[in-house]
Amino acid sequence: MAEELLRIDDLHTSFFLEDSVVRAVEGVTFSVRRGEALGLVGESGCGKSVTALSMLRLVQEPGRVLRGRVTFSGRDLLTLPESAMRRVRGGEIAMIFQEPKAALNPVFTIEFQIQEMLRVHTALSKADRRRRTVELLDKVGIAEPAQRMKDYPHQLSGGQAQRVMTAMALSCRPKLLVADEPTTALDVTVQARIMRLFRQLQEEIEFAFVLITHDIALCAQAADRIAVMYAGVIVEIAATRELIRNPLHPYTRGLLDSLPGRTARRELRSIPGTVPDPAAKPPGCFFSSRCPLAEARCRDELPEMREIAPDHWVRCVRV
Ligand SMILES: Nc1ncnc2c1ncn2[C@@H]1O[C@H](COP(=O)(O)OP(=O)(O)OP(=O)(O)O)[C@@H](O)[C@H]1O
Ligand SMILES: [Mg+2]
Repeated sequence: MAEELLRIDDLHTSFFLEDSVVRAVEGVTFSVRRGEALGLVGESGCGKSVTALSMLRLVQEPGRVLRGRVTFSGRDLLTLPESAMRRVRGGEIAMIFQEPKAALNPVFTIEFQIQEMLRVHTALSKADRRRRTVELLDKVGIAEPAQRMKDYPHQLSGGQAQRVMTAMALSCRPKLLVADEPTTALDVTVQARIMRLFRQLQEEIEFAFVLITHDIALCAQAADRIAVMYAGVIVEIAATRELIRNPLHPYTRGLLDSLPGRTARRELRSIPGTVPDPAAKPPGCFFSSRCPLAEARCRDELPEMREIAPDHWVRCVRV
């Protein structure tokens, strides 16, 4: 088993609103191994983005990381001085988001924006920075990169913009790339191409990859392991094949049942009920109100994560 690159332990993040506290992340624990692709999957609002922002210390007021540890390459990111943290962000850990165009600065050319990343995070000379920019754009599949890099963001299609974001993210050779819904804003064929690109780049450049998505089918294609998140906690984590063949948590089963080909239903509507309000979560297992297997004890205490089979963890007392 590959060595752990990132470990998140018992992470809690809440938003302190005027009249309520939104417990967005409530004890998230998982690790990412060197070079692997980990899928973090769950319904809208379950805390995927807040988990990613918390680990990079990018949560804004009124949000606060309350407790937990984020260990990356032997350092605790939650206690690192801000100056060191700035070098980690964009350098060792890169992040890309759902709306590539919103993340690019409209007033600067692509070339300027990639070179700026290289200027901040590397010691390359100006000529080398230019060479690396062309090389990167070529790697992510931008045709005629030396010309296209003179373009402004508005001249790119959605798919091209995501390729440019990817080039920028990979420019400093990160050890970890976190992609939050990187293809949700793109149409299906472009989405498939971008996912293939991530896989190919991962083989070539060897970085670990965290793919955040609500789409378990996308995870199944792109990830080595999958972590399933529900209402602020991880409920199951296992290697992709194992999770697909032998899902143990009732929520994971519900997600998989909603896949086309498994049943006639496509959407998560196949799990009746809705995610609990994060400002008023019930005691016990957060899934108990929707769970077909719930019994009295499920409403009393949040179950611990248990290793049911080698490397297959689940948070359910009924398994
Ligand atoms: N700035 C904020 N202020 C108040 N609540 C917030 C804030 N940001 C996030 N939340 C809440 O935290 C919870 C988790 O949000 P998060 O964005 O992590 O969900 P997500 O799993 O990424 O969902 P999606 O799939 O829609 O992106 C949600 O209930 C959300 O409303
Ligand atoms: Mg999100």
